[in-house]
Amino acid sequence: MIEPSTTHYVINAAGPLQGTVAIGGAKNSVLKLMAATTMADGTYTLYNVPNIHDVSVMCRLLESMGATTSRRPGVVEITIADLEPVAPFALVEQMRASTAVLGPLLGRFNRVELGIPGGDDFGHRPIDMHLTGLETLGASFTATADGVSGTTDGLVGGTVRLAFPSVGATENILMASVLAKGTTTIRNAAAEPEISDLASFLNKMGARISGSGTSTITVEGVDALEAVTHRVIPDRIQSATYMAAVGIAGGEVVLEHARYDHMAMVCQKMGEMGLRISPDRDGIWVSAPDRMRSVDISTLPYPGVATDYKPALVALLAVADGTGIVTENLFAGRFRYVDELVAMGANIRTDGNHAIVRGVERLQGATVTSHDIRAGAALIVAALGADGETTVVDEGHVVRGYPDLAGDLTALGANVVARAV
Ligand code: EPU
Repeated sequence: MIEPSTTHYVINAAGPLQGTVAIGGAKNSVLKLMAATTMADGTYTLYNVPNIHDVSVMCRLLESMGATTSRRPGVVEITIADLEPVAPFALVEQMRASTAVLGPLLGRFNRVELGIPGGDDFGHRPIDMHLTGLETLGASFTATADGVSGTTDGLVGGTVRLAFPSVGATENILMASVLAKGTTTIRNAAAEPEISDLASFLNKMGARISGSGTSTITVEGVDALEAVTHRVIPDRIQSATYMAAVGIAGGEVVLEHARYDHMAMVCQKMGEMGLRISPDRDGIWVSAPDRMRSVDISTLPYPGVATDYKPALVALLAVADGTGIVTENLFAGRFRYVDELVAMGANIRTDGNHAIVRGVERLQGATVTSHDIRAGAALIVAALGADGETTVVDEGHVVRGYPDLAGDLTALGANVVARAV
């Protein structure tokens, strides 16, 4: 089991990257599929499961409710029986994706308890859209000492209009509506590939969902579901991280199993920057013949450029030719890693939800700190374009989302050593 301990990633410049790297299953899909297993008893087998810490947390959460789980490389097996629909605060606070059990448990058991950090204030916390959507289907929520408690006399289909295409709210409402009576329509739904993966998993279980991957999802409620096996889609954020690495270090790499069709917009942006990217037989081929050119980038819900790509894109812009303006439209304040890039010699100024990135020829090695999964990965990738040694001090964030970032980059010819401290 991967445990998040403090790790120092020590990076020294090396030549261009060369070779093939296998892209694993998507963190933001597998966690939701695992949450969905609570909807029917039986034994589920998930393939292409990444060996990341967040999967361990979700296993523990399911076990705390009565499930049994077992893992072998790339596979997780989950047996659901006699569940108690209570997700304890101590586990939920470790991982926001734990909130994905809310809809499934409520839909199946007509009651749920979910610990959430700062639970008393849940009306103003960013699961308000999850709760409002579930209320439209007939749920009632009350605040508890450490979270929220939900009940219903039985969910009934209805029309849910999301004020914003929230990934988590779409998933919770989608899962809850599968066992509701009648038809549910989710308008302004999120359309991310992970939502389509969840819908196809649920349909295998016996759900009747259409329209996933578009902004209108329709669900015809069913009475019962059954356990299934499923292969998780590849991780598009991991893929984009490695593309940025090629853009910074140069070289030519095949991202085995990566799905170009899930990443068309970010591939287009990176293409404008000078990366050559094309779909391969089973993956994506990428090469960086020259120094990158700057472009402007705005993060948007899918099919726009995902906010999770942004730290790696900013790292890429930091060493590109010219000036790029990056606008964050999803998460206020998701620019904490910029100070760390500046410590490495980047020329970046932030103003509200904008960052103005003036590319420099080379960064300089420094000791910097990672504040979240994507920021940590971006700093490691940025260090590939730095003179001298960089140490990225990471308090267990990177292993939450990347099975072996240092090993993968090293196998491609980079010089990255991960030291547990
Ligand atoms: N929001 C609300 N109220 C809600 C729900 C969301 O105000 O009820 C706001 C959020 O605060 C945020 C915006 O809406 O400003 C978007 O949030 P969304 O619900 O779409 O995000 P999420 O479901 O919490 C998932 C991914 C994130 C990714 C976002 C956006 C998982 C586990 N997480 O989060 O991934 O950034 O979608 O694409 O699927 C990561 O993997 O590192 C990560 C943070």
